[in-house]
Parts: sequence; structure tokens; C-alpha cells
Amino acid sequence: MKQVLKTGLMAAIVMAGFTSGATVAQEAALNEKHAQAATNFRQSLYKLVYSNMGPLGGMAKGKIPFDQDVIATNAMRLEQLADMMSDYVKVDTRKFDVDTEAKDEIWENWSDFESKIDSLKTAAANLQAVAATGDESKYAKAIGQVGASCKSCHDDYKVD
Ligand code: HEC
Repeated sequence: MKQVLKTGLMAAIVMAGFTSGATVAQEAALNEKHAQAATNFRQSLYKLVYSNMGPLGGMAKGKIPFDQDVIATNAMRLEQLADMMSDYVKVDTRKFDVDTEAKDEIWENWSDFESKIDSLKTAAANLQAVAATGDESKYAKAIGQVGASCKSCHDDYKVD
């Protein structure tokens, strides 16, 4: 009976692991130097995110014309960058004096943070699908959904 319970519990744990999707474990920065390097890489990733979102935002606001190829390419890159995001943010730098806009709550609510990454990923994948249709009337809304996923994470996890 005990063995059966144990096996059942193990199965439940394994299942939980599978159903929650690909999660990355967070880890504490080892020292000041490690925390500084991790912060630099983290901010570099977000700079690349921004460089890909910038033109899309300009198009959605009507400042520059829609360009299907740019939308398709940048949306693909945003999905790829979202794929890297857990790895580049997993190092918990809270204990060290680094110059960062990352809030402590990231590492306190790690699975929620990862769900915000998933929202960006989903919105970026959708934008690629919308770009592939070539229907310009749908571009602004799909770009807006990507922008909303940025904002949703920044509201909770980035210092203004
Ligand atoms: C899952 C959370 C999350 C998502 C999604 C997200 N960000 Fe951020 N972003 C952050 C955090 C946290 C920081 C602060 C990083 C730091 O200072 O260490 C940040 C920083 C930035 C920065 C400043 C980078 C620098 O240091 O120069 C820019 C610009 C930025 N994000 C743009 C975006 C855009 C545009 C999107 C959407 C396409 C986006 N972010 C999506 C969490 C997120």
C-alpha cells in the first residue's frame, strides 16, 4: 500500500512537471562578479527585444508603413528571444548591488514570471501567423498584443 502511494505521488510529480511546460530553474548568483555579468546579459537580451519591437510599434502607430517582411522577421526573433528569456533571467541577483530595473518579485514569483514570458511567446507566434496572411488590416492589433505582453510583465516585474 505504501509503495502504491509512493508510486502514485511520483507519477503526480512527473505529470505536474510535464503539464507546466518547459520551465527553467532559477539559481542564486554566486558572487558580485557573477551577478554583474548576469545583469549585463539580461539587459542585453532586453535591448535586443526592444530593437525588434521598435519598428513594429512605429508601424502600429502609423509612423512608418507596414512592411510584411519586417513584421515576419521581427516577430520570429521576438519568439526566439522569448525562448531565451528564462535562461537569461534565472540568475537571482537580488543579494548583490547591481544597477538593475529588475524587481525582486521576479525570483519570488518565478512561475508567474515565466507565464509572462509565455504570453510574449504566444503573441509573437500569432504575429508571425498574421504576417503570413498578408492582411494589413490585422497587423496593428497583433502588434498591439505583443506590446501588451511587454507591458504586462513590466507592470509587475520592472522598475519604471
Ligand atoms: C517576462 C517579463 C518581460 C517581458 C515579457 C518583457 N520585458 Fe522588458 N524587461 C523586463 C525586465 C525584468 C527588465 C529589467 C532588466 C534589468 O534591468 O535587469 C526589462 C527591461 C527592458 C528594457 C530596458 C533594457 C535596458 O536595460 O536597457 C527594455 C527597452 C524592454 N525591457 C523592452 C521590452 C519590450 C519592447 C518587450 C516586449 C516586446 C519586453 N520588454 C518584454 C521584463 C520583461
